[in-house]
Amino acid sequence: MGSTVVRFLSIATLFTICFLLCNANLSAPCKQNERQALLKFKHGLEDPSNQLSSWAGEGDCCNWKGVVCYNLTGHVRELHLAGHVNDIGMSINMSFSGKINPSLLNLTHLTHLDLSNNDFEGMQIPSFLGSLKSLRYLNLSYSSFVGLIPHQLGNLTSLQVLDLHDYFNLEVESLQWISGLSQLQHLDMSGANLSKASDWLRVTNTLPSLVENLQMSECGLYHIPGGIANMTNLKFLDLGFNSISSTIPKWLYRLSHLQSLILSGNSFHGEISSSLGNLTSIVNLDLSYNQVAGNIPNSLGNLCKLTTLYMSNNNLNGSVSEIFESFSRCSSGQIESLSLSSNNLSGHLTDKLDHFEKLRRLRLADNSISGPLPPSFGNLSCLEVLSIGENNLTGVVSQLHFTNLTRLVVFEASENPLTLETTPHWLPPFQLSTLVLNSWHLEPSELPMWLQSQTQLQILSMPNTRISGTIPTWFWNFSSGLWYIDLSENKLYGEVPHIFPRSMNLDVYIGSNQFNGSLPLVSSTVEKLDLSNSLFSGTLFHFFCNNKSEPKALSILHLDNNLLSGKIPDCFRNWKNLVVVNLESNNLIGNIPRSLGYLLSLTYLHLRNNHLHGELPPYLKKCTDLTILDLSYNKFLGKIPMWIGTSLSNLAVLSLRSNQLHGHIPYKLCNLTYLQILDLAHNNLSGRMPRCLYKFTVMASNSETSRVPFDSGDYGLFIFDNKKIEKANVVTKGREVKYGKSLLRLAISLDLSDNIISGEIPEELTSLIYLQSVNLSNNRLSGRIPPKIGDMIWLESLDLSMNQLCGQIAPSMSSLTFLSVLNLSYNNLTGEIPKSTQLQSFDQSSFIGNKLCGPPLEVNCRNTNGTVPPVADQKHGGSDLLEDGWFYLSLGLGFLFGFWSVLGSLLLNLPWSVVFSRFLNSIVRKLYGVIVEHF
Ligand SMILES: *[C@@H]1O[C@H](CO)[C@@H](O)[C@H](O)[C@H]1NC(C)=O
Ligand SMILES: *[C@@H]1O[C@H](CO)[C@@H](O)[C@H](O)[C@H]1NC(C)=O
Ligand SMILES: *[C@@H]1O[C@H](CO)[C@@H](O)[C@H](O)[C@H]1NC(C)=O
Ligand SMILES: *[C@@H]1O[C@H](CO)[C@@H](O)[C@H](O)[C@H]1NC(C)=O
Ligand SMILES: *[C@@H]1O[C@H](CO)[C@@H](O)[C@H](O)[C@H]1NC(C)=O
Ligand SMILES: *[C@@H]1O[C@H](CO)[C@@H](O)[C@H](O)[C@H]1NC(C)=O
Repeated sequence: MGSTVVRFLSIATLFTICFLLCNANLSAPCKQNERQALLKFKHGLEDPSNQLSSWAGEGDCCNWKGVVCYNLTGHVRELHLAGHVNDIGMSINMSFSGKINPSLLNLTHLTHLDLSNNDFEGMQIPSFLGSLKSLRYLNLSYSSFVGLIPHQLGNLTSLQVLDLHDYFNLEVESLQWISGLSQLQHLDMSGANLSKASDWLRVTNTLPSLVENLQMSECGLYHIPGGIANMTNLKFLDLGFNSISSTIPKWLYRLSHLQSLILSGNSFHGEISSSLGNLTSIVNLDLSYNQVAGNIPNSLGNLCKLTTLYMSNNNLNGSVSEIFESFSRCSSGQIESLSLSSNNLSGHLTDKLDHFEKLRRLRLADNSISGPLPPSFGNLSCLEVLSIGENNLTGVVSQLHFTNLTRLVVFEASENPLTLETTPHWLPPFQLSTLVLNSWHLEPSELPMWLQSQTQLQILSMPNTRISGTIPTWFWNFSSGLWYIDLSENKLYGEVPHIFPRSMNLDVYIGSNQFNGSLPLVSSTVEKLDLSNSLFSGTLFHFFCNNKSEPKALSILHLDNNLLSGKIPDCFRNWKNLVVVNLESNNLIGNIPRSLGYLLSLTYLHLRNNHLHGELPPYLKKCTDLTILDLSYNKFLGKIPMWIGTSLSNLAVLSLRSNQLHGHIPYKLCNLTYLQILDLAHNNLSGRMPRCLYKFTVMASNSETSRVPFDSGDYGLFIFDNKKIEKANVVTKGREVKYGKSLLRLAISLDLSDNIISGEIPEELTSLIYLQSVNLSNNRLSGRIPPKIGDMIWLESLDLSMNQLCGQIAPSMSSLTFLSVLNLSYNNLTGEIPKSTQLQSFDQSSFIGNKLCGPPLEVNCRNTNGTVPPVADQKHGGSDLLEDGWFYLSLGLGFLFGFWSVLGSLLLNLPWSVVFSRFLNSIVRKLYGVIVEHF
């Protein structure tokens, strides 16, 4: 009993002593004036989530949230007031905004101030922060400060860490002040616009030489800051996504402490020096997205600490096996990430892959690597991401290749002539999130049963894999996270089961198969749907009108090239997200329904090649975002309405070809300044060509600013995009054609052929100098060919045949050096064909049916008196040209669709802060980040 009391007492004593001691440690309470200063500071802030509720009253402010004091003196030492950020880096509601009160200056011992991830939108960084003399750590990143970075920050002579990383609202005129930060070790100015300081930075040494960590990505730099050469302590250097165009400077290889070097997204060119091997501390090397050429030097093998190497998207060549060989000197055992995609590497994959025991990500896509996938590949037991698409790998891949790949998450291997052989009851060791096997050969050639085991699958892409059979009912439900399915261009048949409601939005591309029966009902969460190029029949009624009241997520819909019939139902009220509606090449009849006018986001409307009739309905006026309107090959009647010109001011493509339209071409059409393709051929249009044509700004100036932003920039087209563009072309052209990047420029064309247009060709036409194709054939045009036609220097195709043009061929025409198709036949042209290698290279048929003389015609100009000998008439020469014009038109439509459907959707999926960013580069970087992260 007694001992219990003693024990209790001694415990109590101990407790008291400890309490006193511990309390003594904390005991110096905060200073009165500092508490007042904090309260003032709080007062200036807006704190919607009330995070500073503890900042109140007379208590010890050292206990307030985010406040750290010196234990002995009670002076405030640190303020930790960062906002909260969610997984994808967006600040969520728990952040501060409002004003930063200068009362902070009373915190004279403050060494650490963190205000990152807040929302001081529109406020400049207060210059008084430069008077917080004790600061060693200042973090204002991602807090939406704007304007000039105050030079007073240069007075913070004790500062060791300065982080101003933000999205493109900060600017710098001169960085002179930075030389004051003599203790600086960590400087992050990423995203600030330093372009004005770029030249200056090149020649100065002002960057503090102690710095170990320098981040200046996305700063608009044109040059490498010269001072870096002296920063011999540098461990981490990020100059990614600037505009630096130079070779990699030699001195960079002397920074022997560098552990991380990021130069991606610039225009570094030339070869990589063998001095690369001097960077013996390097762990992480990123040169991706540049124009670096040549072989990767063998000295790469000296980088014994390397774990991450990114060199994708350059012009590197050489043999992939030699690169792997060089790692074997010391680094192969620890390399974790290796990306060499989108270069010109060749050779076979080495069979010694088992040495890469820690390899987690391997990207070799888009090279010319050939040979089989070596069996040792199956030993990469850490592998999570494998991307080897778009090479020339051949042979059979069997289940054995995957035996140890238990961690594989992304398998991207599209566009290789590989065969995947699996047994029907294979249970794969992995759980994939992404499976991309485009253009493989599957054996057996049916939808693999083992997919059912992949319950984490998000992206499934197996187009053009020759699989046949029907879509089983389990297919829509085996993985609840599935959001992207591409099974197009296969031999699947039968009816498509209804796509039932699911939690995740879903993109379904199953066009170009042999499905038949009626269209499936589609749950309201499907976002993109391609059922084109199949044998679907019946009406559209159930598809559009089922469950009328439920709002639908669908934004892209392709039902083109099927056997659908009946009317387009008037049920569009709840399909307000539709951006693309493609119903072309079916057997649809009737009018354009009124409720289409509810589709305020509608951008592409393709109704070509049906049996639609009636006048062009005025409710289309409301679809002011329309960029492509293709109503060609139908039976539309009446006049071309004026409102097309006044309301649809975003139109880039207007095709009303092959209808029964009559009347004049309305002058209002000239208001369509973004127009790139105008096709009114094969109608009964009469009157003159409008003279206001010069208003078509894109055709006339082709300037970046006047153009609807189709241009992608160098990075705009990403990973999925190329394929989608090609696919878009397939869909549009009805056969598979692969266009190289150079052909993916924009078509700009004007086709008014086969009407009854009369009068002269207005001279203003020749101001549309970016037109590539002009077809005015088979009208009643009279007068001369405009003398300045030679100004239209980009013309590749010109057809003026079957009109009543007279006079001589304009001599300026001989300067049309790109012209590859010319038809002037069957007019009343006279005189000598102007001499130029170009014009003489055309066939005689380009000129027959006139009173012309001189080569290429056999009529000698001297001894004719205007009589033309008969030349073998190859019917009328127009059809060639027609084909050609359509080539361009199809190309244009395909490209536009492809580009927007992809980039558009990527943009929509991005966090808003990224969308608002000013530089395309940055969008790309974020995309890159998102995609990399995702994979
Ligand atoms: C101050 O007190 C806190 C809390 O007791 C303790 O974690 C910290 O280590 C102390 N710091 C110093 C410098 O004594
Ligand atoms: C600092 O504190 C003093 C006295 O406590 C006060 O007079 C002064 O206004 C404060 N300064 C600022 C900038 O708030
Ligand atoms: C910063 O230092 C300069 C001298 O280098 C001085 O003139 C200026 O007043 C200081 N600014 C502040 C805000 O302390
Ligand atoms: C920096 O390097 C340059 C040569 O590039 C040299 O002239 C200069 O003295 C160096 N500055 C310092 C501070 O070391
Ligand atoms: C790299 O190291 C080698 C050997 O030590 C040396 O000859 C070469 O000059 C170094 N390269 C650079 C750029 O300093
Ligand atoms: C792919 O490899 C085969 C032989 O394996 C060769 O015949 C073919 O030309 C290669 N294709 C390309 C595009 O390199």
